Amino acid sequence: MCIESSGNETAGKPHTHLIHSGQVSVSDNNNFIMLQQNIRLSGATVVVTGGAGFIGSNLCEHLLETGHTVRCLDNFATGHIENILPLFEKHPGRFSLLVGDIRNMEDCRKAVDGMEYVLHEAALGSVPRSIKDPITTNAVNQIYNTAYGERTTLNQLVAYLKEYLSEYDPAIAAVEPVHGPNRAGDIPHSLADVDKAKRLLGYDPQFSMRQGLKEAVKWYWNNL
Ligand SMILES: NC(=O)c1ccc[n+]([C@@H]2O[C@H](COP(=O)([O-])OP(=O)(O)OC[C@H]3O[C@@H](n4cnc5c(N)ncnc54)[C@H](O)[C@@H]3O)[C@@H](O)[C@H]2O)c1
Repeated sequence: MCIESSGNETAGKPHTHLIHSGQVSVSDNNNFIMLQQNIRLSGATVVVTGGAGFIGSNLCEHLLETGHTVRCLDNFATGHIENILPLFEKHPGRFSLLVGDIRNMEDCRKAVDGMEYVLHEAALGSVPRSIKDPITTNAVNQIYNTAYGERTTLNQLVAYLKEYLSEYDPAIAAVEPVHGPNRAGDIPHSLADVDKAKRLLGYDPQFSMRQGLKEAVKWYWNNL
């Protein structure tokens, strides 16, 4: 197991690209798809923030299995060491863990030292948590909305899912949702304003929620 507590000295530091979960943009306005291709083609060095979490640990595993070198930055606020322990054994020398906090500049500097890409997955989820402790949630989470810029209700989402999934299994068309009581902090209507991300990051979403959902359903049905 390699747990890092200090940065590596590297000659000729590479430019580091930042990619956030979901559909997010990159720090230097490069095209997201081109970045994905670059990562796919070369033996890249990649930092995964929140790499001990659900999304992050799966990303780490995928990147390692496709020949890349991965450094996980995580403070284990909600992540689990069990998510990443097998990666040390399976990929000796190519996986390392830096226990640190994305709110700490020094930890971030150490994490990106000598690395080419950052896949940024560290976050504090849970609406109830954000209501109980908004200051911590706001400090950790991103301040850019990266949605499509349209309103969608949960009922519409269920209708789309039924429509797309029933192409693969007609029985799903008959599934009816069960409505439960509201949870504290539920947001009945929301519309994320993506102007800031467009203006400052060149964010340019290519798929509407509906188009993206259709593609995702197709991928999950064929691959899982
Ligand atoms: N799970 C999903 O289905 C899903 C879907 C779409 C987008 N996302 C987004 O992906 C991101 C990760 O979600 P997840 O489900 O993997 O959550 P998770 O809670 O499993 O993982 C988050 C990770 O970030 C770490 N972390 C939290 N605060 C940190 C800090 N200050 N410094 C360093 N590490 C910190 C946690 O310890 C944890 O390992 C979130 O932004 C989430 O909104 C998740």
